[in-house]
Amino acid sequence: MEKTITVLPGDGIGPEVTEAAVKVLQTIAKRYNHIFNLQYALIGGAAIDACENPLPEETVELCTQSDAVLLGAVGGPKWDQNPSHLRPEKGLLAIRKQLGLFANIRPIKAIPALLDASPLKKEIAQEVDLVIVRELTGGLYFAEPRKKTNDYALDSLVYTREEIERIVDTAFLLARSRRGKLASVDKANVLDTSKLWRQIVEEKKVGYPDVEVEHMLVDSTAMKLITKPSAFDVIVTENMFGDILSDEASVITGSLGMLPSSSTRGDGFGLYEPIHGSAPDIAGKNIANPAAAILSVAMMLRDAFQMETEASAIEGAVFSVLNDGHFTSDLQTKGKPALSTTEWTAKVLEELDSEFVSD
Ligand code: NAD
Ligand code: IPM
Ligand code: MN
Repeated sequence: MEKTITVLPGDGIGPEVTEAAVKVLQTIAKRYNHIFNLQYALIGGAAIDACENPLPEETVELCTQSDAVLLGAVGGPKWDQNPSHLRPEKGLLAIRKQLGLFANIRPIKAIPALLDASPLKKEIAQEVDLVIVRELTGGLYFAEPRKKTNDYALDSLVYTREEIERIVDTAFLLARSRRGKLASVDKANVLDTSKLWRQIVEEKKVGYPDVEVEHMLVDSTAMKLITKPSAFDVIVTENMFGDILSDEASVITGSLGMLPSSSTRGDGFGLYEPIHGSAPDIAGKNIANPAAAILSVAMMLRDAFQMETEASAIEGAVFSVLNDGHFTSDLQTKGKPALSTTEWTAKVLEELDSEFVSD
């Protein structure tokens, strides 16, 4: 197959983990006879530095013309004091909005080789297999009005029926394809947007009689993700709750650096992006964990291009390198020296090659 992929490395560790992910893509192309045309574009701080715009028009055009987009991460202290229209994060929010990517899928599954790296007890972490379906283009992040003066600030929390319906449908369909359990997470004891959310989930569940639905409040969900995370199958929630709960849940696997995601219109087209940020504290040191970016490539191949074999090969290579006890420094190394980003990536590439030979 021939596919065009726009690569947006971004800032901080973004370019480091993206480079690793691109090497994996190139290996897959060679091994499985695909052509991946890669086109690089600017976003975030890198774009602000180059053209004073966190999302240049040219970047949007390239993304629109491609079959999928691979994103690193944006942001960093260099731009933290900028006015809000010149913040790197604005570029990421704008590309999600402009491409209509309302569904952010964040799968969290225990990895046997990493159970010692999880902050949770092994018995609690080992059964975890859940997906957070995060609404991505509505709510507090986007709604107007918003305002800030020196002694007054306003953010609006708005959700329309249409925005809630489409993400809830996405989550029901996903739950149906998994273990048939959906937790809808809100703050309906306080917020009107959550009351509407709950009402719509109740209406929708009639159409999915095979899915068991539970409504949960976001505060106790945060607690249960630590005490009994294996109780969850699919979680659906609004933008900001999903942002927070997914960073919390990510570390059950051992590190935030393990978690991939897709941000789509519900049809596979979209951004494939690690859930972590630009990690300014470790940027430029070649020590970032590239697994989240590499596993995002696997999600892209599976969901955007229906390349199941290739996606499984990547996941298999990542798990096998971890099983062999090779870790980056964010994961417990049990006395072994941690590998750098490029060394760990080289192991994954070797594994991909050897898997192919033994096929
Ligand atoms: P962060 O995710 O960048 O880092 C949080 C912690 O996790 C840091 O200690 C970091 O070193 C570690 N970490 C993250 N990814 C890692 C990896 N792959 N390997 C090893 N360790 C890793 O969050 P933050 O520090 O709160 O934010 C830093 C910047 O990133 C901010 O400007 C923020 O806006 C931005 N950000 C961007 C995205 C994105 O582009 N999708 C996501 C989150 C945060
Ligand atoms: C994420 C990030 C972004 C978000 C920021 C950088 C705007 O935290 O992708 O999780 O909150 O969506
Ligand atoms: Mn986040």
